[in-house]
Amino acid sequence: MSIGEKFVSMEYGPAPEDPKEASTWLDRHKRRFGLFIDGAWQSPSAGEYFDTFDPSTGEKLANIAQGNAADIDAAVRAARAASPRWRALTPHARARYLYALARLVQKHSRLLAVLETMDNGKPIRESRDIDIPLVARHFYYHAGWAQLLEQEFPDHEPCGVVGQVIPWNFPLLMLAWKIAPALATGNTVVLKPAEFTPITALVFAELCQEAGVPAGVVNIVTGDGRTGEALVKHPDVDKIAFTGSTEVGRAIRGATAASHKRLSLELGGKSPFIIFEDADLDGAVEGLVDGIWFNQGQVCCAGSRLLMQESIAEVLISKIRDRMSTLRIGPPLDKAIDIGAIVARVQLDRIQRMVEQGIAEGATCWQPQTALPMRGFYYLPTLLSNVHPTSIVAQQEIFGPVLAAMTFRTPREAVELANNTVYGLASCVWSENINVALHVAAQLKAGVVWVNCTNLFDAACGFGGYRESGYGREGGREGLLEYMEAKWFKHAPKLATSESPLLATAARSGAPLVDEIPDAGTLAIDRTVKLYIGGKQARPDSGYSMEVRSPDGALLGEAPLGNRKDIRNAVEAAHKAESWAKATAHNRAQVLYYCAENLSQRKEEVASHLAAPVGEKQAAMELDLAIQRIFSYAAWADKFDGAVHNPPFRNIAIAMNEPIGTVGVICPSEAPLLGFLSLVLPLLAMGNTVVAVPSEKYPLITGDLYQLFDTSDLPGGAVNIVTGYVSQLLKTLAEHDDVDAIWCYGDDATVAAAKAMSVGNLKQVWTNEGRAIDWFDAKIAEGRWFLEHATQVKNIWVPYGE
Ligand code: NAI
Repeated sequence: MSIGEKFVSMEYGPAPEDPKEASTWLDRHKRRFGLFIDGAWQSPSAGEYFDTFDPSTGEKLANIAQGNAADIDAAVRAARAASPRWRALTPHARARYLYALARLVQKHSRLLAVLETMDNGKPIRESRDIDIPLVARHFYYHAGWAQLLEQEFPDHEPCGVVGQVIPWNFPLLMLAWKIAPALATGNTVVLKPAEFTPITALVFAELCQEAGVPAGVVNIVTGDGRTGEALVKHPDVDKIAFTGSTEVGRAIRGATAASHKRLSLELGGKSPFIIFEDADLDGAVEGLVDGIWFNQGQVCCAGSRLLMQESIAEVLISKIRDRMSTLRIGPPLDKAIDIGAIVARVQLDRIQRMVEQGIAEGATCWQPQTALPMRGFYYLPTLLSNVHPTSIVAQQEIFGPVLAAMTFRTPREAVELANNTVYGLASCVWSENINVALHVAAQLKAGVVWVNCTNLFDAACGFGGYRESGYGREGGREGLLEYMEAKWFKHAPKLATSESPLLATAARSGAPLVDEIPDAGTLAIDRTVKLYIGGKQARPDSGYSMEVRSPDGALLGEAPLGNRKDIRNAVEAAHKAESWAKATAHNRAQVLYYCAENLSQRKEEVASHLAAPVGEKQAAMELDLAIQRIFSYAAWADKFDGAVHNPPFRNIAIAMNEPIGTVGVICPSEAPLLGFLSLVLPLLAMGNTVVAVPSEKYPLITGDLYQLFDTSDLPGGAVNIVTGYVSQLLKTLAEHDDVDAIWCYGDDATVAAAKAMSVGNLKQVWTNEGRAIDWFDAKIAEGRWFLEHATQVKNIWVPYGE
């Protein structure tokens, strides 16, 4: 072929990367690797090893140690022992270690890239130009945070020992996403790499040695799911961070429910790739190449659902097919290859199975006429069109180079289709009209929205999902908070459920607080309240009430005994109260100020009711502080802003603090008014709607609360109150698929139940971990900590420049 012809056909010759250095490195280790525990290599205690393969050839690369529970225990002990000295280092000292790691990653970047490609099958072009540079960037960025930590987070401390389990699709990058923020914040780590791709984590262990990272600070225990399970269940681990399948994420949520381990989950996705008729179609098609054929589609945020505006569907499909025909598929160490090998036979089989099922469900399958290599695990880039939105290939993560295409007519329909998934990790919007693009971006339920671009990542921009794509963020300021606790909270005492905080204080000081509880005989008895659902007082479905008594046993009144049906009605009402989420922050602030004003006016009356269960002194304090707390959240409503990041591309990433949705709240018993407001107000201020179960001991507060909300212009359904027994109502709330998060305040057993029962739709659960929160201390009981949990960050990436 002449040069002229080549120029036209763009056919390349092979351009293989030299694997010699990587092979030498493997040979130097005799292609057999132990576990990296306490700064040294150790043999697995059971003497078991497994093989890791090059998926592009099927050839064995090395023997890898299969860590078991005893090995995990040894690693956790090493991490625990290393913890005090590591966290006591100055921020600058820790910053230098992270900086050293960043430099070493850069120094060994080619070795890491080649080994990554050999172990995973991804094109060297990607491991060399994307994975490894991002790994270095992550360590640099977090070296910076380590340096600034005390200035920026003075009241925080590390979680302690962190267990991290990562997948095989971005082996070293996921390690960096996990280890860099953990170390920067002063935690020590036990990390389990994926069984298909352990090699670069082992190189990283060597880099830790080279950087002089103290023994025990980073421990790498290889193995399969059993090893991961042992780590997740280890009692001396303070936090688990997991990336992988939603199924395993669910199992981990269940396995950690009864513990007080912090948990962050980055799970699967079925991300929409929306193309409007006014988009730059050629640009969008290139975006798709990066969206679904990057890393063979084995990407949690892959743009696997193509949503095309109907008017351009035909021309777009033809452009996509043309482009697919030019994708080069083959040995991933070839620098000119676009699509490498699938990580393992089992994944290849899974892709094949799902595509067959999609075709059986009516999809039309198109693949280019490209020859596949004779050996190794390859799958052709695949376009499924005429896909029904309910088909398996439109709903479930395929994790392969398979695009499922559907059409829409209007922006509204595009948003509906896009959000018609249990996931919410990422999304793409292509339109030359910035107004349309941003309007749609705001409505997408996903942690990342790429406008006219795709699959861009940066350490400064938090990444993570909505809904069943998990919770917690990696990267950015919000990612750091996943690895720290507020100091006071870490050391807070256990909640003594039977006591009110003031009563407890009084008991300790000997003051006769109980005497101040008015004689029941002098109270206006027989207060009967109703449920509050959709802005209306409602009778309970059960037709039963519960008696409410004062500490000395006198009857104070009756509250409805809410049941499942009432909770369901309340959730439905909360969902319908969309206007609250859409109200401007200024609007929400005004409503809250109005609540404060109205409570001020009724202060004496509410205090007289509240005095019966908690005493006059506490009642007066609750009222004073409640009014101040409402003011605080009215103030916060238009001030808890997001951020604008400047990633190292021609983009801005707009980090929005968005409401989570409908949140179920189990309120404290001990401070019936103040506790209720302390939890419900931050949620309301941020635009969430709430279904609250008030103090079980004094549910009569509901009557005062609904009068307050009714008279303060709060739209019906924004807050719903169902009285009853927590043990019964929590279950329905936690298991309800339309509840997006649970805030549960209670003892150990109650919060464990909240976590365990929330596994169904993997709703976010935030609890007091059975610890007491002093609702009377504004430094503790209000502010950013609550607001951070009342929101989730969405990053909208917008390119600039021609
Ligand atoms: P997986 O979720 O089983 O594996 C991820 C990691 O979790 C691995 O390190 C594995 O050893 C570990 N693990 C497995 N069971 C565990 C347990 N019970 N406790 C603790 N750790 C455990 O994913 P797998 O089987 O490799 O892939 C299956 C599917 O999962 C893929 O087809 C894809 O749909 C999805 N997936 C999603 C990823 C993402 O980034 N969102 C990454 C990998 C897989």
